[in-house]
Amino acid sequence: MSENNIQSTLHEDRQFPPSPAFLKTASLSADKLADLYAAAEKDNIGFWANQARSEIDWQTPFTQTLDDSNAPFYRWFPDGKLNVSYNCLDRQLEKHADKTAIIFEGDAGDVAHITYRELHSRVCAFANALTAQGIAQGDRVIIYMPMIAEAVVAMQACARIGAIHSVVFGGFSASSLKDRIEDTRAKMVITADGGHRGGRVVELKATTDSALESGCKSIESVIVFKRTGHNISMQAGRDIWWQDAVEGQSHVCEPVWVDATHPLFLLYTSGSTGKPKGIQHSSGGYLLNAITTMRWVFDIQDTDVFWCTADVGWITGHSYVAYGPLATGATIVIFEGVPTYPDAGRFWEMCERHSVTIFYTAPTAIRALIKQGDDFPNKHDLSKLRLLGTVGEPINPEAWIWYHKVIGGERCPIVDTWWQTETGAHMIAPVPGATTTKPGSCTRALPGIDAAIVNQEGEEITTANEGGYLVIRQPWPSMLQTVWGDDQRYQDSYWPYFDGKYYLAGDSARRDEDGFFWIMGRIDDVLNVSGHRLGTMEIESALVANPLVAEAAIVGKPHDIKGESVFAYVVLKGERPTGGIDDELTQTLRAWVGEQIGAIAKPDEIRYADNLPKTRSGKIMRRLLRTIAKGEEITSDTSTLENESILPQLQGRT
Ligand code: WT7
Repeated sequence: MSENNIQSTLHEDRQFPPSPAFLKTASLSADKLADLYAAAEKDNIGFWANQARSEIDWQTPFTQTLDDSNAPFYRWFPDGKLNVSYNCLDRQLEKHADKTAIIFEGDAGDVAHITYRELHSRVCAFANALTAQGIAQGDRVIIYMPMIAEAVVAMQACARIGAIHSVVFGGFSASSLKDRIEDTRAKMVITADGGHRGGRVVELKATTDSALESGCKSIESVIVFKRTGHNISMQAGRDIWWQDAVEGQSHVCEPVWVDATHPLFLLYTSGSTGKPKGIQHSSGGYLLNAITTMRWVFDIQDTDVFWCTADVGWITGHSYVAYGPLATGATIVIFEGVPTYPDAGRFWEMCERHSVTIFYTAPTAIRALIKQGDDFPNKHDLSKLRLLGTVGEPINPEAWIWYHKVIGGERCPIVDTWWQTETGAHMIAPVPGATTTKPGSCTRALPGIDAAIVNQEGEEITTANEGGYLVIRQPWPSMLQTVWGDDQRYQDSYWPYFDGKYYLAGDSARRDEDGFFWIMGRIDDVLNVSGHRLGTMEIESALVANPLVAEAAIVGKPHDIKGESVFAYVVLKGERPTGGIDDELTQTLRAWVGEQIGAIAKPDEIRYADNLPKTRSGKIMRRLLRTIAKGEEITSDTSTLENESILPQLQGRT
């Protein structure tokens, strides 16, 4: 796919009404949806109160819906008490005890079915094990696990006793793990000896050991799930096998009832400045929107087999693997491996074998699989699928159409869901039985969500197709509560303009003639690589921490599969390699960034220069660097450059 295809989103005018096949069983019709919009329009807070009463089992019902006395620190359902794990597990036992909660498939093809009864029992035993290890309500627990059922067990067990989990993606480095442990001041790490991905072992315990060696004084114990069985070291007095920790524990565990505003978890995400932010989510409000979106956007029904391919290390894996689907009594698929192992048919083969009905993945995965050809999906019976979804970045229409035709057999609606780590759940997305979709658009805001596009003054832009800032003008239940330990950063990052009244998403967007939203990109220095957010500053800091590097600038370069790739310009302390390129050095620096942050942050390309292009006032000219990275002609005015002679170096010409 060329850049032209990505550009053509601007001219997309194909429309796809819900298919007759889907409408036969859809639970939310256009009429019912209109009622929801009308109710929310009339009384937004009352609307959410009703949803919260019908969707959540409260131990103590709330009497106040929203406390907005200390905006933007909104508190939803402040005097209500609940337990998230109770809502996900205990309440399914009456009708669904023997229903499969989790279909787990390992990298090597090993499969396990876990019923709600069994999952409940494992979560209770593990929650008791956590308590036995000294974990109590409010303590932070780091989860650094492979994508296996036990990752969900660990999350649910924390929720059960009111401990606050922070899941760290298994692809992050020791140094990233350490930063998160230190910022949360966690007492415990839950990890595994390793995980399997694409036939290889991911060294989770060894990485944990090296994170802990370099600091992390708050950690008292490490629980290690035995997954691979390969050789690792266990430190006496600190490390304990999961299998030993649960031995003899009771399979009964009373849930700890917490306030709706009690933090359920922290999840770190990149911003334009500084270290990643610990996004803090509540229990009640978060759970509510995880549930409402399962119903409205995924149309979840009792017979569905729901597969969200995201890792639990990301927000998508929190809301649509660990919480939303279980709270609605669904059967989910959890997959340890990668889409291309043993071959590029893995997803489709698994969809067939497990009779998946709803499939949710990222555009980057779709694009990667398109490249492998239609033979892979065509070999499999995908007729059980009834709904498809995407998340993470705008999907280019060509990928959308392929997904629709080749995977969805032209009968499955596609829900393109816009949301963020901070929003907790879908915000702008189609309702599949009601919305006529357009490839590349996330369509309309969901009921109760007041999304708008505004100009710098905060005035709504009503002209069709004129771009502006995407904002949310009213608080919503699953909104982040704050940045962990840094209320100021929360205010500065999300409520900086418009008198602090509107939540600033950090995306630019436009609305078309029908009021549909089209996301255009980030307004800050944040890249979106394979659907994951990376701060340019974070990668630049990692590079300059290398003794060879004096200065660095990172820009995004459009990439066929990843959406954007990381492109680095580096000024060395020593001699500049001629031609602006040095393969060996580049490999060294890529590996370095991998160690500092994780493999996803490694620059795809590095170019060396004597200087970086700066304005006379010292600002790095990122727009110019982006143009050069793309290999395009420089048309902008470069006369304000401090040193124009570096241009050919940046272009890799001298
Ligand atoms: C950023 C949030 C939400 C889970 C995955 C990423 C971009 C997300 C879409 C979409 C266009 C999208 C935005 C957003 N984004 N979904 N459907 N269409 N862009 O979570 O790491 O918090 O990133 O991803 O730029 O701000 P995240």
